[in-house]
Amino acid sequence: MKIGFIGDVVGKPGRLMIKRHLKRLQQEHFIDFTIANYENASHGFGLTAKNCNELLGYGIDMMTGGNHSFDKKDIFELFETHPLIRPLNYPENTPGSGIYRTRIKEKDVIVLNVMGHYTMPMTDNPFTKLSAVVASLRAEGHTHIVIDMHAEASSEKNALLHLLHKDVSAILGTHTHIGTDDLCMVNGCCYVTDVGLTGCRDGIIGMDKTIPLKRFMTGLGGHHDIPERCKALLQMIVFELDDEGRCIGAEKIKIYDEYPKIVTPAWREV
Ligand SMILES: [Fe+2]
Repeated sequence: MKIGFIGDVVGKPGRLMIKRHLKRLQQEHFIDFTIANYENASHGFGLTAKNCNELLGYGIDMMTGGNHSFDKKDIFELFETHPLIRPLNYPENTPGSGIYRTRIKEKDVIVLNVMGHYTMPMTDNPFTKLSAVVASLRAEGHTHIVIDMHAEASSEKNALLHLLHKDVSAILGTHTHIGTDDLCMVNGCCYVTDVGLTGCRDGIIGMDKTIPLKRFMTGLGGHHDIPERCKALLQMIVFELDDEGRCIGAEKIKIYDEYPKIVTPAWREV
């Protein structure tokens, strides 16, 4: 089976890039299931019901979250009705789930979402919590396990690879919005530190540059905004899993506006 993973979808420009390109990419790369991170999809903060339905209509099958999961109040009801999760290491009574179960090509597939520690809201320890969840899924016989690690620190994401590469199919980093150049397969686990945003590429992490520049130059902030018009970018990891849930191929796809896609294969570590 082939799975597509889009990182942080940032605002309307991100949603429009998915509308414009995703269904064609799914055909060209024989993608069976597509995941995206929703936490910045509605003007940079959270997800509304309207934008959720829009993204699912463009071909996204399920979505993961992060520190902005709860920024729009629609999310509480959406968790009950739509294929959305939030980091599993939020405290026990937090609404929503961090685990999504589905079936693709007659195989059970699990998608997990976890949030890092550094500069993030207070949650349970991502490493111990995720290790326990993965151990219990493996004990149930699950082999196809995909993780969205939503974290600021590259070291935390990198550490997860060492901790879990033998037990999971893929660990894909999100949150920084800047794609990293380390897509690899290690012992059948697909890994990248950050997939990078889908949205404006000519601002600052998908936002209008004016406010962040003012903050950095003067210490005075303001509300982040997403430009109506910008140069846009779509970034997606496509990875293939065998019947045992091991990754046997992966590539990064980038599309700049309407330009032809750039496809970069993963390094296979032996
Ligand atoms: Fe985030």
